[in-house]
Amino acid sequence: MSGQRLAGRKALVTGGARGIGADLAAALAKAGAAVMIGDVLAEEGRATAATIAQNGGTCGFVALDVTSDAQWDKAVATTVAELGGYDILVNNAGIEIAAPLIDVSAEDLKRMFDINVVGVALGMKHAFRAMRPGGAAGRGGAVVNISSVAATIAFPAIAGYSASKSAVDRMTRIGAVEAGKLGYGVRVNCVYPGLIANAMGINLANEIVKFGLAPDVEAAVAMVLAQTPLGRLCEQRNVADAVVFLCSDEASCITGAGLPVDGGMGT
Ligand SMILES: NC(=O)c1ccc[n+]([C@@H]2O[C@H](COP(=O)([O-])OP(=O)(O)OC[C@H]3O[C@@H](n4cnc5c(N)ncnc54)[C@H](O)[C@@H]3O)[C@@H](O)[C@H]2O)c1
Repeated sequence: MSGQRLAGRKALVTGGARGIGADLAAALAKAGAAVMIGDVLAEEGRATAATIAQNGGTCGFVALDVTSDAQWDKAVATTVAELGGYDILVNNAGIEIAAPLIDVSAEDLKRMFDINVVGVALGMKHAFRAMRPGGAAGRGGAVVNISSVAATIAFPAIAGYSASKSAVDRMTRIGAVEAGKLGYGVRVNCVYPGLIANAMGINLANEIVKFGLAPDVEAAVAMVLAQTPLGRLCEQRNVADAVVFLCSDEASCITGAGLPVDGGMGT
């Protein structure tokens, strides 16, 4: 059967209940991986897993707040026990709270860093422990961190978010170096999605208008498109395709890399 590039692999996708993560989980399952969705949204996460299973994939759900070391322990143990291994982690869970620097709130910045930075670091920690030789899964693997085009450009009103996604970019490189030099057998890469017209993307467009940076949502989107060589927004499935590639054997010599899926916006 075509499209089974990940047959036999076992994957955990954080923030897979909805949005990009739901499409990532579906794409990994379509490529043959057994997938566990880890999210704080239990009802939506279970429903997404059920839909993927109805479409012929293998998919389950595990409760996971990525900011909690203890919950990572449990989620990885559940993944290994229920799927029979752990070869792929997609650190996708993330939040965006926009504000011009003159109005940033310490609380919002800390919340964003807790989920976007601490969550990704803990994900790599627990993946490395489980995937390295002698670990609970023990056969190496692939980690893909979801950064953002925001890590590569200077767009107004997202200083904190951009800083958190720049941290994801840098941690990806360091994760790749550590995993290589310390013999974990794990490749670590990241993806930089551009603005996507889903709930998070539309919310940002509305915030841009609220902060007086554009007269209306259409103008806010036009601001993005004016900086995008392909002249269109990318879609969730474009991000999913890039992640499947980075997890596959076709990317077996790729680690410590960042792949833009942004229509060229970050070029
Ligand atoms: N939408 C965009 O335009 C865009 C662009 C670039 C990058 N991204 C990144 O892509 C990723 C997915 O974003 P999305 O657009 O699907 O947003 P979304 O809000 O639709 O989905 C985010 C998911 O993460 C989950 N989540 C939030 N906090 C969590 C926590 N503490 N523990 C576990 N799960 C948690 C949410 O419940 C949700 O299911 C994020 O990292 C985001 O920063 C999005």
